Amino acid sequence: MAFPQTRMRRLRRNPTFRRMVRETRLSVDQLIFPMFVRPGAGVRNPIASMPGNFQFSVDTLAEESRRVAGCGVPAIMLFGIPEHKDPLGSRAYAEDGIVCRAVEAVKRAAPELCVITDVCLCEYTDHGHCGVIRTNRDGAPGVDNDATLELLVREALAHARAGADMVAPSDMMDGRVGAIRAGLDGAGFHEVPIMAYSAKYASSFYGPFRDAAESPPQFGDRSAYQMDPANAREAMRELALDIEEGADIVMVKPALAYLDIIARAAQRFDIPLAAYHVSGEFAMVKAAAANGWLDEKRAALEILTAIRRAGASLILTYWACDAARWLQEGPPVAS
Ligand code: PBG
Repeated sequence: MAFPQTRMRRLRRNPTFRRMVRETRLSVDQLIFPMFVRPGAGVRNPIASMPGNFQFSVDTLAEESRRVAGCGVPAIMLFGIPEHKDPLGSRAYAEDGIVCRAVEAVKRAAPELCVITDVCLCEYTDHGHCGVIRTNRDGAPGVDNDATLELLVREALAHARAGADMVAPSDMMDGRVGAIRAGLDGAGFHEVPIMAYSAKYASSFYGPFRDAAESPPQFGDRSAYQMDPANAREAMRELALDIEEGADIVMVKPALAYLDIIARAAQRFDIPLAAYHVSGEFAMVKAAAANGWLDEKRAALEILTAIRRAGASLILTYWACDAARWLQEGPPVAS
């Protein structure tokens, strides 16, 4: 062959060719922006480990949600920081709780924005665990699965009543999707979909989020309910169970260190698959970029494209609004 070296490079020669043969598309339609709401008024507290992200009060969150919708981002995921915490996380399922008030305000300010609420107790419990604490068979404190389910159902119902468009349980209790589905249906909310954090790993990459949500566990860690990072086949069982129990969208979390899980899940299941590019994954790039070691825009678009390439249909990302702007500026992969 005369010029074998041109075989693969012919279609990489110019931006038009590259645009035509690009296999993966990243679109703003696929992005969900996580936001944090806390009590007060006029609050806009920068989150140090997540540059560009803030804790908002209900009023500033509503304003900000209009901006998010204006960027073309279709959905937000809401996390609440309550007025006070107690052992049973009672502010999580109070009808006048912080997330319920935030949902109402956002739906008024930006009705077209899809408001998804994180359903979990860890931000609301004084011990920082995702459920009710009981002594287990080893004589150690552990989270009581079924006692927690009741509270999660109440929390999901409170959010649905406030007008949440979708609920997203993130606690990793067994049976919570089925329990929440039954609870929603029983109260007439059969139209509210569930996005389940199905394969959620006990990950070190949640560190900055726990600062933002003020939710680190006060003793031990979450490995008695979140998944072991070493396990992949188990993730398929988690996803299958959640789908069986009625999840409308399933999620893998974190994203970047778990692209193999996303790829397997995408091949195996035919329901929309979300991936959460979490706080620590975001913070790593931000820190490197601040040092001039990485180009943030290129790194971010490369990561988001990789998550799509692995097979995620939706991505939760703290870059959602930046990415919306970057995608308008040019193609997802730098030329
Ligand atoms: C639990 C929850 C967590 C995150 C989302 N929901 C933290 C945890 O499990 O400790 C992490 C998100 C992130 O790190 O960006 N309510």
